[in-house]
Amino acid sequence: MPKTILVTGGTGYIGSHTVVELIKSNFNVVVFDNLSNSSLWVLDGIEQITGIRPTFEKVDLSDARSCKKSFEKYPEIESVIHFAAFKAVGKSVQKPLMYYQNNLDSLMNVLNIIETCSISGFVFSSSCTVYGQPDKLPVTENSPLKKPESPYGKTKQFSEEIIFDFLNANQHKKALSLRYFNPIGAHESALIGELPLGVPNNLIPFITQTAYGLRKELSVYGSDYNTPDGTAVRDYIHVVDIAKAHVSAVNYLEKMETENYDIFNLGTGRGNSVLEVIKSFEKVSRQKLQYKISDRRAGDIEQVWADCTKANQTLGWKTEHTLDDALLSAWKWEKYYRTNHQ
Ligand code: WQD
Repeated sequence: MPKTILVTGGTGYIGSHTVVELIKSNFNVVVFDNLSNSSLWVLDGIEQITGIRPTFEKVDLSDARSCKKSFEKYPEIESVIHFAAFKAVGKSVQKPLMYYQNNLDSLMNVLNIIETCSISGFVFSSSCTVYGQPDKLPVTENSPLKKPESPYGKTKQFSEEIIFDFLNANQHKKALSLRYFNPIGAHESALIGELPLGVPNNLIPFITQTAYGLRKELSVYGSDYNTPDGTAVRDYIHVVDIAKAHVSAVNYLEKMETENYDIFNLGTGRGNSVLEVIKSFEKVSRQKLQYKISDRRAGDIEQVWADCTKANQTLGWKTEHTLDDALLSAWKWEKYYRTNHQ
């Protein structure tokens, strides 16, 4: 009998790619999402890729009553992967209370349900933003956490603390926090990807929209960093590699014995600068990208990339895609999205 996994935020960017990989690994998937930053047609894409349409409930998890009501409909859920959260860094600075309310209430409502029912496993979508600007690189799971620059980043750090304390009080439950570095790209089919709602904050959607002619040019935020070419460095990881790590994580929950909580970095272990990303994009798209050098963006860190040995060794997971693969898939998705969903 296939195990049933609940994916909250399952019509979102990383959520939808994770649903595809879970279905491919013969899990039965239920998706909860409030569709605040995604669309129902993402389910069409998942069905076209896998041949299976996951069960879907539109639910606002920050509302305790509707959260409880939705969970009660699916007593067969064995584990939860929790993506549902607001994630726009800039917006979180303007609307901190909305971010704390939504992201922390949703988490606590889900944990409250888990505490009183038979669900044993919980996987949390965390972020490298909890490290701030590390003093030492590459950054490991034991690297000191720093005060995140944004309320968004703080909700990730507070959430990890809440999960830690919840598990301390519920030793029979198990949980993992997965700290993503910079997820980019899209499924090779180009049927699902990162929905570009509004002006993109993140680098890759801005690049593909500029290349498509929707934006005049890319602003490169700063060229005076202490890096080889002066532009900031990040660990860009293909979203499908991130998705596959969640399948490995769900499988690992079963095997956990001594500890009931653990944390993993999900990155490639390599850092690339903004200019290197531009060069790689021009190579795979075979077109010149219009860009200009601008001032640094407030809140940006200079450089970060992961040491993901722990995930490699403990989860038996490793990245399979290169930066070129990820950028080509992002470009294919941009063209598919504009032709089919605009
Ligand atoms: C990457 C680099 C920018 C846009 C954020 C969150 C993190 C995660 C990923 C959710 C930086 C530069 C960007 C542009 C640019 N989010 N840039 N011009 O800020 O590393 O991480 O997104 O999980 O938690 O903090 O990602 O893509 O915004 O920026 O030069 O138009 O690209 O300065 O160096 P970031 P990003």
